[in-house]
Amino acid sequence: MTDAEAAAAYDCLYSEMKEAYANTRIPATRNWRAWATQFSTTPYVSATHGGRYVMNYSNTMGARAYGEYEEMTEMPRSSVLIKDSFSANADGTLSVGPLFLMEKMGPGFNAETADWRYYMFTPDGSLFGVTGGQNSAGLAFCHECHAAMEDNDHMWFLPEEYRVSN
Ligand code: HEC
Repeated sequence: MTDAEAAAAYDCLYSEMKEAYANTRIPATRNWRAWATQFSTTPYVSATHGGRYVMNYSNTMGARAYGEYEEMTEMPRSSVLIKDSFSANADGTLSVGPLFLMEKMGPGFNAETADWRYYMFTPDGSLFGVTGGQNSAGLAFCHECHAAMEDNDHMWFLPEEYRVSN
């Protein structure tokens, strides 16, 4: 898919995504495109999130620090980063993918994750796992990979060519 095709596919799938994630107990999964700050220009393929097309967003609390990219050192408490996803299937169809979310908790939440709480929701809106809660062990792979970016508070950012310029 070209970037333009990926953007069109995303526009087309968004209402389905929005519906799928409307009923979680996390307010940040409700119609995020309407209120969150968008950091990716168009969907791009993320090898580390299942080879799916993904987009990146932040809530207001996290947007300033996240937008500094490699210059930033720490995300403020209550930052929420949202990565939605979709798959382009071999038969030409598109399908909604999991929703990946990171929330910066207060000091003492979890030293191992630098106080990040990771969430993953499946495309039917149910919780696959959350750090420190349901299926926490099943989400250990999130922080095991993100922790490599210790100097940037476990943030990987996104490929430069897809960054929204601020
Ligand atoms: C093998 C490494 C790896 C694993 C495992 C991984 N991520 Fe990521 N994550 C990345 C990379 C690389 C990026 C940025 C580039 C991209 O999107 O592909 C990223 C970006 C993110 C972002 C945007 C914030 C940032 O770091 O820039 C969120 C939110 C996120 N991942 C959530 C998750 C969650 C939730 C899980 C587990 C279900 C997870 N990730 C598993 C490597 C990983």
